[in-house]
Formats: sequence, structure tokens, C-alpha cells
Amino acid sequence: MKKNKRAAIVGVSGYVPSYVLTNKELEQMVDTSDEWITSRTGIKERRILKGQGLGTSFMGINAVQSLLQKTETDPETIDLLICATITPDVITPATANIIAHAVGATNAFSYDLQAACSGFLYALDTAAQFISSGRAKKIIVVGADKMSSITNYSDRATCILFGDGAGAVLVTAYDADYDTDGGYGILDTICKTDGAGQDLLHQKAGGSKLPASHETIDAQQHYIYQDGQTVFKAAITAMSQVVLDIMAKNSLTAADLAYLVPHQANKRILQVVADRAGIPSEKVMLNINKFGNTTAATIPLCLWEYEKKLKQGDKLILTAFGGGFTWGAIYMAWAYDGA
Ligand code: ACO
Repeated sequence: MKKNKRAAIVGVSGYVPSYVLTNKELEQMVDTSDEWITSRTGIKERRILKGQGLGTSFMGINAVQSLLQKTETDPETIDLLICATITPDVITPATANIIAHAVGATNAFSYDLQAACSGFLYALDTAAQFISSGRAKKIIVVGADKMSSITNYSDRATCILFGDGAGAVLVTAYDADYDTDGGYGILDTICKTDGAGQDLLHQKAGGSKLPASHETIDAQQHYIYQDGQTVFKAAITAMSQVVLDIMAKNSLTAADLAYLVPHQANKRILQVVADRAGIPSEKVMLNINKFGNTTAATIPLCLWEYEKKLKQGDKLILTAFGGGFTWGAIYMAWAYDGA
């Protein structure tokens, strides 16, 4: 009987803008301190995309171009490009369409997927289904957000958290025999949603319910708003549980794992999630200190930065939590030697 194919990440790249917004600079903008931000979040600096008319696609295009180059991939062989973002260039057309056009992926269909900070995780799961069904052979998944475009730089509770960036991965069917290949690629996924969290982390206006108007702008309703403490607790509970669930489902212990790859929301959140799963801190991918929370870009930016350390067969658990609420975990065996 013909088996479904298994999807694997076979290349990763990223792009962050050059402008570095430090905690020191934030001290000049709001009533905060480097000490407070570092101790409460683990963030020292974040990147900000400056320049008139540059949106999320600019970063996505840069990430995808370098991905195509390093994997020596002809853009015309890409079947599908998915961009996970909550900060599209415009509502329509999709940022994925803009990226695909710019990189010459002329044979790809493309669309955006919106699941806030879980966007990359959901998009990677979607890509895996297209590979598994045989519908697509080569897929690019982009996680990209220009969070500075929806951040209120007079609100000290949110402006310290976010940064801009983009990460991209190439996903293909893993060629070796499904039963005897040692199990490389995406092995299991759990995705969850609870709309009860919709008002705890959201933009109040700008959609069809409350379109942009003078009133919505005056009331500052286009910025990202969050109930920080409630989100903090919900993120810990949900990510911890989903990591434990996917470990139990696949009979994994912390010793089996090479890395936990968590969405970079807050260093304290990541530490508790890792602790509850018994995963030591040296096995937790971390770059929140440099990039802050880049929403859909955090996980691919981590993979990009740690790629050289990864070896074929390394077992990873990716996990995320974000607006919606949305959350989940992906268990994979890394498919190639990063070095
Ligand atoms: N500088 C100095 N003081 C501050 C700042 C700041 N930047 N921000 C808040 N404070 C003050 C508050 O006003 C409060 O003062 P008060 O006690 O006089 O009222 C005090 O610090 C404590 O505020 P808390 O909100 O309780 O601080 P907390 O320790 O919860 O940290 C934070 C706030 C960092 C936002 C935290 O709640 C958090 O990380 N939440 C998760 C939010 C998140 O990650 N959202 C991103 C999207 S979702 C995701 O990625 C999972």
C-alpha cells in the first residue's frame, strides 16, 4: 500500500533589520529601565524596520531570497508559499503573494495564514499536510512580522516586548523509505485554539467590525493590546501542557530531546515551560535577548540561528502560544547536519 509522505525542513534562513532598539533607548521613550525589562522579560534589544513604505514583505523577501540561495533552489520549482503574519503589508493582497512574486516563485500558489504568535507552527503543520497528501513537493513557510507597525511606543507594558523580523524554511518530502529512514522530518503535531481568549490579546479596530476611522485612531485602537499577566499565565499553562502531551504521545523523555524551540514571548515563560518538562536550559533555543518577540518569526529565527549546531536525527519540539488564543507543538527529527 502506498504510504503518505513525511515532510521535513531541509533549509532555513532569516532576516532582521539593521536598526537596534536598545533598552537604553526605550528608557528615553517611556518610564522604564534596562534592569526592569531585562529581569522581567530577558530582552536587551530588538530590531526595528525603518524606512518609508517598507512592510513585512520586505523582510520576508530577504529571508526567502537567502533561503533559495543557500539551498540552491530554483524559485520556479516552489509549489506553495505560506506566510504566517499578523502584520501583512495590506489586508489584501496577501503578503505571501507579494513575496512569491518578488522572488520569482511563478509556479507557486500562495496565501497568508493568521494565528498570531502560533502562526509559524500552524503554517508548518499546513505545509506538512500538503506534502503528506502529495499535493505539493516543495513549500516555503515564512513567519514574518513588523510588530513595530502595531506597537504603541507610549505604552511601557507592550512596547518593550516586540521586534521586527522574518524567518523562512524550505519544506519537502523526505526521500528515504518511510519505514526505515530513522524517522527524519515532522513526526507529530498538536494544534489548539480557544477563542475565549480573544479579548485578552488583540487589536480593537481596523477590521470589518470596527474599520479605521478618525475615532478609532484617536482612541488608539489600532495598536496591539494585551492583559499581560493573564496572557503570561495562559501561555505558561498551555505551552507546558502541550509540550508534556506531545512528549507523552511519543514516549519521549527530556533526555531524548536535542532542543526545545519555544516561541520567544518572555524568558521567564520559556524557563517555566522547560522546567515543567524537565528540559535543562542548555537545551532551550533562546534569542529573545537580541530580537524580542517577533510574533510569527521567533521560531524560524531560532532555527536559523541554531542551524549550525543541529545534526541529522536531533529530536526537537517546537512550541508556541499567541493571540486567539492559539497554541501547539510540533515534534520533529531534524533532517540534515547544520554544519
Ligand atoms: N517598565 C517599568 N515598569 C513597568 C513596565 C515597564 N516596561 N511595564 C509595566 N510596569 C509596571 C506596572 O505598571 C506595574 O506597576 P504597579 O505594580 O505599580 O502597578 C508593575 O510593573 C508590574 O506589572 P505587571 O504587569 O504585573 O508586570 P509583569 O511581571 O506581569 O510583566 C509583562 C509584564 C512583561 C508584560 C508580562 O506580563 C508578560 O510578559 N506577559 C506576557 C505577554 C506576552 O508575552 N505577550 C506577547 C504576545 S503573546 C505571546 O507571545 C505569548
